[in-house]
Amino acid sequence: MALVTIPDQDERLTDPEAIAAYLKTCGIDYERWRPAHPVAIDGPAADILRAYSSEIDELKARGGYVTADVIDVNPETPGLEAMLSKFSREHWHDEDEVRFIISGRGLFHIHPKSTVVAIEVEAGDLIRVPRGTWHWFNLCADRHIRAIRLFQDMSGWTPLYTDSNVDQRYLPVCFGASHLQPNSDAAY
Ligand SMILES: [Fe+2]
Repeated sequence: MALVTIPDQDERLTDPEAIAAYLKTCGIDYERWRPAHPVAIDGPAADILRAYSSEIDELKARGGYVTADVIDVNPETPGLEAMLSKFSREHWHDEDEVRFIISGRGLFHIHPKSTVVAIEVEAGDLIRVPRGTWHWFNLCADRHIRAIRLFQDMSGWTPLYTDSNVDQRYLPVCFGASHLQPNSDAAY
């Protein structure tokens, strides 16, 4: 389950419905895909895509996405630092950034209006950051994430930088919703 923090207002949201409602006001789609499908989270990408094919097809129909893949990032990923540095500065894309988290965690900061919002995502979370939304992304301390990505046109998924340096004012720290809410359904 995601964890949303609004650092400048010292606010934190942990309830999935409250998170979805708040993010909707920021133009961000958030939902949980439950229950998880019975597929090995470290299995082949093709198995993951097959298991979630009905959800993927629905998203494609909804958002005009034409292709889906699975991205794996972990401490052994070649060129990890260079890859992370591309996305940890405030940027936008000419197409939506859509991620369904299979395993691991990550931290999106979005900057849709005057307020920066931190969205920590983990397994079971779907997030859609619409094209043109200012945002940046960091991994959490374990530096691992596996996610389904959907694309309208892969050529549009290039970071375009604001060069605002706003990203430097916010610590890329994950808190872990499952630790805050030990009885939640966060882990599987
Ligand atoms: Fe991005």
